[in-house]
Amino acid sequence: MLSIAVAKGDGIGPEIMEAVLRIFNAVNVPLNYQYVEMGKDVFLAGHSTGMTEEAKQTIERLGILFKGPMETPKGKGMKSINVTARKVWNTYANNRVFRSLHGVDTVFSKAGIPINITIVRENIEDTYGGIEHKLTNDVALCRRFITRPGSAQVHRYAFEMARKRGIKKVTCGHKANIMKITDGLFLETFYEIAKEYPEIQTNDVIVDDLAMKLVIRPGDFEMVVLPNLMGDIMSDLCAGLVGGLGFAPSANIGDNISIFEAVHGTAPDIAGKNIANPTALLLSGIMMLQHLGLTEEAAKIQNALLYTLEQGVHTGDFGNKAIPAVNTTEFADTIIANLGKTPAQDPVIATPSKLQHTPPNALTQNKIWNTEPAEEVGLNGVDYFFESTEQPSLIGEKVTNWLPAGYKLSTLSNRGTQVYPKGSVYTECVNQYRIRIEKSDDRVITQSDIWALTAAFATLYRVCSAECLITLNGKEAYSLAQGQ
Ligand code: NAI
Repeated sequence: MLSIAVAKGDGIGPEIMEAVLRIFNAVNVPLNYQYVEMGKDVFLAGHSTGMTEEAKQTIERLGILFKGPMETPKGKGMKSINVTARKVWNTYANNRVFRSLHGVDTVFSKAGIPINITIVRENIEDTYGGIEHKLTNDVALCRRFITRPGSAQVHRYAFEMARKRGIKKVTCGHKANIMKITDGLFLETFYEIAKEYPEIQTNDVIVDDLAMKLVIRPGDFEMVVLPNLMGDIMSDLCAGLVGGLGFAPSANIGDNISIFEAVHGTAPDIAGKNIANPTALLLSGIMMLQHLGLTEEAAKIQNALLYTLEQGVHTGDFGNKAIPAVNTTEFADTIIANLGKTPAQDPVIATPSKLQHTPPNALTQNKIWNTEPAEEVGLNGVDYFFESTEQPSLIGEKVTNWLPAGYKLSTLSNRGTQVYPKGSVYTECVNQYRIRIEKSDDRVITQSDIWALTAAFATLYRVCSAECLITLNGKEAYSLAQGQ
């Protein structure tokens, strides 16, 4: 029998996991559960990753983790175990399915507008690297990584999933009108991968417009693929369309390891009371069964859940207040009693199960991607981020007088807005500027030239960081300042 790793989680985790596994057992799901230690207590016992070495090894050996929500104790050096697990094991795609459920009243269900939207969110990159620095006491910076291989992985997963599920249209959400290089790469990769799936329609929508359109015309969207942070926000918006986090499942998919969990947290306010709603974890479990090829068991459970909701059975967090709420145990019992029943609306058609999971190969090396190396990398100059409270004109003069031969000052900006050579006195500045220095002729400059220049510049100002201005295959690979 196939083994999977199970972590019960913290707060309401153990209660809802118990309810879900009881339902699994009632349909004889052919899985063997290996319980692993992860979460708050493991952190408190001194494991900074929130999981024991044994847990890590078990998950890496089995390739599937079914987890309850986990708490990351607040304090220095403790990073969210949920984010760490997704990143360390390269679960590059986060798949969340939002469907209206009969019995779960929302503004949309009352208006007769059905919702069926899948959000695929890039799961590793973007600002979630948590690479942050304070440049001065007033100024903080977070780096945002978008990569070609990372984008290609998530887009390919989305298109594969769309093909498998008969989804006809995939939309890319982005902000490439502002972040032309990072989101531009995400969008370019989307259309590149789309060519491999000619039967699927594609379009792209700027994320703010997307937020509005998801609310006013949710029926226009079948699947939306987004970078990490925007995907995080848009998926919670979609959770709101179908009745809240209690109905939001998620699958974190990687090539070797995949993690299935509810979107909600540990709900400390109701933990231990046996009143939590296990639906989101159950829906995540159903996604896991589908992923493993256990489609028949998944359909049977889903139909029993839909039937139960249609009957008006509900936990305290949702449903018709005129019908008394049941507790977690009773909710699971009712679903078990309803196994084999078919909901009146949107029943799921069961297809025979065909187990399709192969545990990952034991890896000995990190995979290094290098998908499209540039034939030619050139160097035009450097951006310095430095501390100063001087007026832009004074900085401009000082740097111009200091500049070694062969270099020019192209722009001085503050918070991304140009303030010199042209600018507005209405632009309010903070104590950290960015200055762009470029070569003023066609000669070739090297890294050593830049670092020699940096040493000299550092005698004028305190340099917080520097960014090389490169060209890739002859094209400038950096953005202009606003107003430049
Ligand atoms: P939360 O999702 O735990 O709770 C928000 C509200 O929703 C609370 O009022 C809670 O009672 C309610 N709620 C959540 N799940 C419910 C359920 N299944 N049934 C009924 N009501 C439910 O979010 P919060 O309070 O921001 O986070 C609490 C803890 O959970 C934090 O330590 C956080 O780091 C962690 N967390 C863990 C996640 C994970 O393991 N993937 C995800 C989000 C938060």
